[in-house]
Amino acid sequence: MKSVKGEKERLIDDYGREIRSLRFSITNRCNLNCIYCHREGEGRRELGEEISAELVIEIARVASGYFNIRKIKFSGGEPLLRDDLVDIVQGMRDFEDDISATTNGVFLKKYAAELADAGMDRVNVSLDSLKEERYDFITSSSNNLPKVIEGIYSAIDAGLTPVKLNMVLLKGINDDEIVGMMDFVRECNKRGEVAILQLIELIPCFNHKPLQGPGAEPHTMLNYEADFYGVEAELKSKASAIKTRRLQHRRKYFVDGVEVEVVHPIDNTEFCANCSRLRITSDGKIKPCLLRNDHLVPIESVDERHIINKLKLAMRYREPFYGR
Ligand code: 5AD
Repeated sequence: MKSVKGEKERLIDDYGREIRSLRFSITNRCNLNCIYCHREGEGRRELGEEISAELVIEIARVASGYFNIRKIKFSGGEPLLRDDLVDIVQGMRDFEDDISATTNGVFLKKYAAELADAGMDRVNVSLDSLKEERYDFITSSSNNLPKVIEGIYSAIDAGLTPVKLNMVLLKGINDDEIVGMMDFVRECNKRGEVAILQLIELIPCFNHKPLQGPGAEPHTMLNYEADFYGVEAELKSKASAIKTRRLQHRRKYFVDGVEVEVVHPIDNTEFCANCSRLRITSDGKIKPCLLRNDHLVPIESVDERHIINKLKLAMRYREPFYGR
């Protein structure tokens, strides 16, 4: 790891990738059970001890104060199942530039205003289908889609924007719904420029078991892998403008007034080469790569020096999954 002397140290790995954001999985509990879920690479759901609010806030404080990392995302499981999420956000709002969460939206109506007041900036909401039967199938649940839609509008009204609608493309299940989702984004945007569609490539996993070890081949458990290249080519042909985000070099297409961001990790060396995030697992370990489950670095104390050292140690384990 290279550290650059200056006002603040920077976290840069051996491949020149600087860390600019932290992604905390704060629980692996979830009220849904999506057929494709990779569980943030944490494997099977076990109800172990969850990282404490105090430790989450301290890690964020050190990352911002010492390494100048001021961007935080909360994920899960379902992060809104943590009843102290509002306190966690409140506890770090003063030293962060951008705080967001990826949620399934079922409880958003209840929490949107509170989270916004606490200092959350925006949310991503998983929304794989607007058709109730499909939504229920994908999430292995029932009666939730109307709550999610309400939750999305609550988030918009609370100013948790732009709301990104995460749609994992699943062949034969929802890959005919991109136009419908774009219409829904347009509907949301009647309240301002508030919504973005995010199309996500399915990361194959087997029985909820993440990819293992260096060079592991993706297991094909689901035959749901859609033609992502084809979808992207179509967006490209229709786009009035195309931009590239720094994070993982994600492309954004502007199509018929709708912003569509594309998250395409599989076999994508650009994606890995531009990875600028470090993950923290729900049991308090730094996870250098989503697609690997080794090289986890436990953080065992809220002591500043300890956290600094563990962050630096985790950096030594970082290597691109695709394109080594
Ligand atoms: N492939 C791609 N994205 C996934 N997510 C979860 N599992 C997978 C997977 N196998 C992402 C989706 C979802 C969020 C909670 O996690 O973006 O919206």
